[in-house]
Amino acid sequence: LSLISQSMLAQNANYDEAKIPPYTLPDILTGVNKTKISNAKQWEANRPALLQLFAENVYGVTPTISTKQRFKVLETNNNALSGKAIRKQILITFDDYPQLSGINLLIYIPKHVKKPPVFVGLNFEGNQSLGNDPAVLLTQNWMVDFQKNPERVRDHRALEALRGNAVVESWPAEAIIDKGFAMATAYYGDIEPDYAEGWKIGLRGAIGMADDQKWSAMGAWAWQLSRMLDYLETDADINSKKAIVIGHSRLGKAAFWAAVQDQRFAAFISNESGEGGAALKRRWYGETHEIINKNFPHWFSGKYKTYSGNIASLPFDQHQLFALIAPRPVYVSSAEGDQWADPNGEFLSLKNAEPVFALYGKKGLGVDAQPPVNTPVGSHLRYHYRSGKHDMNAYDWEQYLKFAAEVVNK
Ligand code: GCU
Repeated sequence: LSLISQSMLAQNANYDEAKIPPYTLPDILTGVNKTKISNAKQWEANRPALLQLFAENVYGVTPTISTKQRFKVLETNNNALSGKAIRKQILITFDDYPQLSGINLLIYIPKHVKKPPVFVGLNFEGNQSLGNDPAVLLTQNWMVDFQKNPERVRDHRALEALRGNAVVESWPAEAIIDKGFAMATAYYGDIEPDYAEGWKIGLRGAIGMADDQKWSAMGAWAWQLSRMLDYLETDADINSKKAIVIGHSRLGKAAFWAAVQDQRFAAFISNESGEGGAALKRRWYGETHEIINKNFPHWFSGKYKTYSGNIASLPFDQHQLFALIAPRPVYVSSAEGDQWADPNGEFLSLKNAEPVFALYGKKGLGVDAQPPVNTPVGSHLRYHYRSGKHDMNAYDWEQYLKFAAEVVNK
């Protein structure tokens, strides 16, 4: 296709598999320096250069931010969730950046397990939105008015009624606790508000970035996840060596980038992360790089926008981002009601990462094509395509808890 027609295509979303123009994925076993890779050692020698390419072209290069971090216990309770869990609320602050309100971490730890593995992830509407626990502190930070309900969010601030009301995702604390896992979550707006100019009052403004095009909001949110892990490493009640980073949708994109950069995360779960996350960029299906950059100019770096109309010239695709997580386990899920995220493109992306996991002796998905709905496949690398809408729901968590028990905590 000519560049002009490619660009015209990418401005619209296609939902017809038959209309996807042919594309060639960059060979995953060819290094950035063009040499062939045939073992894990060679892959690891190639890894930093590939990671750097993703940073420079999509997510922005993470700046070195050296500041003293403080962990303040705001609240703890040994009888949370009907007495089954310990609840902790921890505030992480940065000495050099007092203008940032800090990260409010909500943690639940099962009482019946010693040092459990932990799910770590961001949430969309504040910790208080995840359950009906009245002791969870209400977020004070700017938020997107997802629900457009003035009883719950007014002037971009959460009200008391935004408790236990998360519409875009959920964290079933009790189900997680019952299976013997801990969870640690924080509101993504704690570190940077999610709107085009949000960087000015968020982390990027605080560290003195003069514009928003070098780094990105995704980069800032990934950084937040690593700071949450910094705290967890200091908490003797949790096994931080088994921290599973998880995220839904835009927060899945952030979790993906966090898992790639921060190898302390033991595993990664992508819940419908779509374009800029699990989905292959070269497939013209659902949301495209052009659409996402237009609607969310702050999510990725300026350089990513220069590939408009010419995504085939990007020197990599998302299968290589999965490969950067190897040999750690990965779970990818898609939903039938979320064609926007390109479910088959998410499957194919993980599928095409298999050769790198194989260098470590890790098995692939065990199937060649996207499985039917509600049929999880694979083990170390897992995938499911469930019925229902764009969300992180009970079915998804049931699978993730199994994966965590069978693969991460074995
Ligand atoms: C929009 C966006 C997606 C994103 C989603 C979400 O739909 O286009 O890329 O994943 O929001 O975060 O829910």
